[in-house]
Amino acid sequence: MAIIKLVRYMKNNNFKILAIETSCDETSASVLEVSRSKVYDLRINILSNIVSSQVKLHSKYGGVYPELASREHIKNIIHVINESLKQCNNLTIKQCKQLSNDYTAKLLKKIDYIAVTTSPGLIGSLLVGTQTAKTLAYVFKKLVVLVNHLEGHIYSNFIGENPKSEIRNPKQIPTAIYQIPNTNPQFPLIALIVSGGHTSLVYMKDHLSYKIIGETLDDAAGEAYDKVACMLNLGYPGGPVIDKYANDYIIQNSKSETRNSKQIINSNYQSPKSIPNTIYQIPYTKLFPRPLINANNFDFSFSGLKTSVLYFLKKQKKPYSKKLIQKVCYEFQEAVVETLITKTLKAAKKYRVKSIIISGGVAANSRLRELFQLKVASCQLPVKLFLPERKYCTDNATMIGAAAAYKILAGKMSDYTSIKADPNLPLK
Ligand code: KG4
Ligand code: ZN
Repeated sequence: MAIIKLVRYMKNNNFKILAIETSCDETSASVLEVSRSKVYDLRINILSNIVSSQVKLHSKYGGVYPELASREHIKNIIHVINESLKQCNNLTIKQCKQLSNDYTAKLLKKIDYIAVTTSPGLIGSLLVGTQTAKTLAYVFKKLVVLVNHLEGHIYSNFIGENPKSEIRNPKQIPTAIYQIPNTNPQFPLIALIVSGGHTSLVYMKDHLSYKIIGETLDDAAGEAYDKVACMLNLGYPGGPVIDKYANDYIIQNSKSETRNSKQIINSNYQSPKSIPNTIYQIPYTKLFPRPLINANNFDFSFSGLKTSVLYFLKKQKKPYSKKLIQKVCYEFQEAVVETLITKTLKAAKKYRVKSIIISGGVAANSRLRELFQLKVASCQLPVKLFLPERKYCTDNATMIGAAAAYKILAGKMSDYTSIKADPNLPLK
């Protein structure tokens, strides 16, 4: 049945997916319209992307409180799905509010597939999304696509146009001199997944083929950000606030230097017109270690780095000054970013890949994005770098729908009875 339906939709060259993501603390639903395209293997048109974040609720606990997360998903899931269906019909918020649930049911009939995150994640949170998807698939007789959350993060790089090279505003530091390609990533590729729960390097020979070549041995990169932010009393989640303080430090401590751009960059993928001739230099210090950076493998470890920050802070006077906080944020972030980039480039070289893609909440980090662009442009490898738009780095249902689109193309759909939440299923 699945194959017959696939062929029918592929003949029509167009199908719609309702995607649902509830694996951690974001309740999200998205509607995607998928068609074949010459430039992209699939053209994914995002009709709606609704994300209801629980960040405020969990911030007072300094991290995600699992029981509260699942209760909140239960409260929100139907509203979020309703909203995603209504918005995909180009209705205004006011019009949406006036619509009855019968109307939503009519919209649901126009959906071809339901995609849902089934693993990994918090079991209570996963159960809300999977049970909702199961019920909708049963009642509306839809085929389902089961998506691994990490697979979703990877496919945030296949959503469509890549963001333009990110040049900081002139008062800040202009360093983005790399032209981000405007096509889909080419295989083979190396995917770096950096989130609150995972730090992994994955080799992909082709779509949906995953070989994990490196993982964190302890804390994930995002987890280290959150814990260091907690030590500095910066609240939860730590990533965005550390990103901001580190950025302030860079602005205050950078010196402008004019250089010949050719000395800095040597890459096939830059557009000469886009290279600024000014680059700002920050004195290179190394307050904290770069864990496993020279190890003969692709694994990561961030727990020791976190402890180094703790020991450093123990020697400082409380309350910490703003200057000290900015410095610690900068130094910690440099250690994380340098380690992530160095190991990813090593993997790209060893596996001779055509593309590097990065994803997960930490991929929204401005310094990681900026330095990655610089390093790839100057590394002399024939490799293109892809960065998802920031809003698709942190958890969202659109990335789950994008992964589902490629699974549908490969005929990997099933019926509602196959939906099962599993908190620990690895990427495979
Ligand atoms: O992918 P995600 O939304 O959830 C998981 O799958 O874990 O990632 C959340 C993580 C948090 O640890 C958060 O601190 C981090 O991503 N994060 C950032 C930034 N924005 C979010 N880390 C560094 N810089 C950021 N701008
Ligand atoms: Zn995630």
